[in-house]
Amino acid sequence: MLYWYKIAEHANALPWQENGICVVQVRGKDRLLAKLGQECKAVSATCPHAGASLADGCLNARGEIVCPLHHYRFRLQNGYNSSGEGYRLTTYILEQKADGLYIGLPEPPEIDII
Ligand code: FES
Repeated sequence: MLYWYKIAEHANALPWQENGICVVQVRGKDRLLAKLGQECKAVSATCPHAGASLADGCLNARGEIVCPLHHYRFRLQNGYNSSGEGYRLTTYILEQKADGLYIGLPEPPEIDII
């Protein structure tokens, strides 16, 4: 089951960095968004190798995000570690709905307990 969290009115309203990446915090965790052609993809923002922030990485011409620390590469489409070290990024579904851009997460919303 997915829970939908609104992250912006539209992808164009997100705080894009010059490297074509932006990070949004949802449910207490950073989620990385990057443009792949006309599409926008979302993956986990921390490198599974040694914890570097992928927001400081770069996108290459093959639609991969390159980690800034040891340069492992990950496909935005599926999180696959295309440089072959055996890691994987978590991928998330994005959906543009009538009232905004949403990210789908398996984590339910936090409920305030009084
Ligand atoms: S921390 Fe990303 S490749 Fe090592």
